[in-house]
Amino acid sequence: MNEEKKTLFSAIQPSGIITLGNYIGAIRNWKDLMDKCNCIYALADLHTLTVKQVPAQLRSNTYELAAIYIASGIDPEKCIFFVQSHVGAHAELTWILNTMTYPGELSRMTQFKDKSRSHADNVNMGLMDYPVLMASDILLYNADLVPVGQDQKQHLEITRDLAIRFNNRYSETFTVPEPYISSVGAKISSLQDPEKKMSKSDPNVNAFISLNDDRDTIIRKFKRAVTDSDNEIVFSEEKPGISNLITIYSTVTGKSIESIEQEFEGVGYGDFKIAVGESVADLIDPIREEKNKILKDKAYLDSVFKRGAEQAERIAYRTLSKVYRKVGLVERKH
Ligand code: TYM
Repeated sequence: MNEEKKTLFSAIQPSGIITLGNYIGAIRNWKDLMDKCNCIYALADLHTLTVKQVPAQLRSNTYELAAIYIASGIDPEKCIFFVQSHVGAHAELTWILNTMTYPGELSRMTQFKDKSRSHADNVNMGLMDYPVLMASDILLYNADLVPVGQDQKQHLEITRDLAIRFNNRYSETFTVPEPYISSVGAKISSLQDPEKKMSKSDPNVNAFISLNDDRDTIIRKFKRAVTDSDNEIVFSEEKPGISNLITIYSTVTGKSIESIEQEFEGVGYGDFKIAVGESVADLIDPIREEKNKILKDKAYLDSVFKRGAEQAERIAYRTLSKVYRKVGLVERKH
């Protein structure tokens, strides 16, 4: 770790094949920050257990997400790249932080309320405690920056509150992290209901673009995207469907929103949707192919996981032993 650089931590849950929303909201920024910061990227497998998972599927999703990280340009040689459950300190710090978190703080979290509704048959303690595990992920590495999409902002706020609370009670221990949320693309919406976020757990497969979708599927899904009926390619709050497509096109091509409005002036929605679909397919095609190649070499991925866990563990346990000492636990002698 380079002491002069800021430390960055982020993670994605391997709870299914990730979407274009995850890519634009998170991975895209991770890549940009890789040379500027000490980057630590995790596969948040413990978080996925807060909703029911098929065990074999969870395991294969974890390998698949790791292959997507690498295929998207997250180089395990340039960052620490590991599986959350491989570093026990995450669950251990969660216990300590739990003793200073209040149920009311967790039950008011928007994601907890949403997931309690969508998984009404399984509202478990883990679902409620989810932000505390996320706080532990971040605080163990004293991260300065956490690049996430808009939906994780509230969880970042509770992370900051917990860091400040611990520091006030036991003296300066944790870095209080800053969210890094980009101004464009932090909330990619569903293609079928632009008021909702694009989500990998959406039961309607036409609502999201998966990083496993092939070219034809991607273009077909964009052609079917729900938009208003005025046929003008203008970014506006009153036009959430077309504005979402403009945002996607802007982040994928690097063109500004104004230049897109100019370029497509007088062009109908149909042609614009095809242009967006093609640009997204151009982005995803090589990632998907590279991901499939990487996935064939499980031994390579296991070696990446092993090294990442060793690197992460060294930092995480240093922080955890400091925390244990500060709260008054007796140090274990080796
Ligand atoms: P997860 O797996 O739901 O999503 C991973 C990342 O993708 C972003 N994202 C989106 N961005 C834009 N538009 C969307 N439609 C969209 N959907 C998802 C999310 O904001 C996130 O950045 N709890 C986290 C994983 C996590 C984590 C952490 C993140 C665990 N520990 C520590 C940061 C730091 C989650 O469930 O993300």
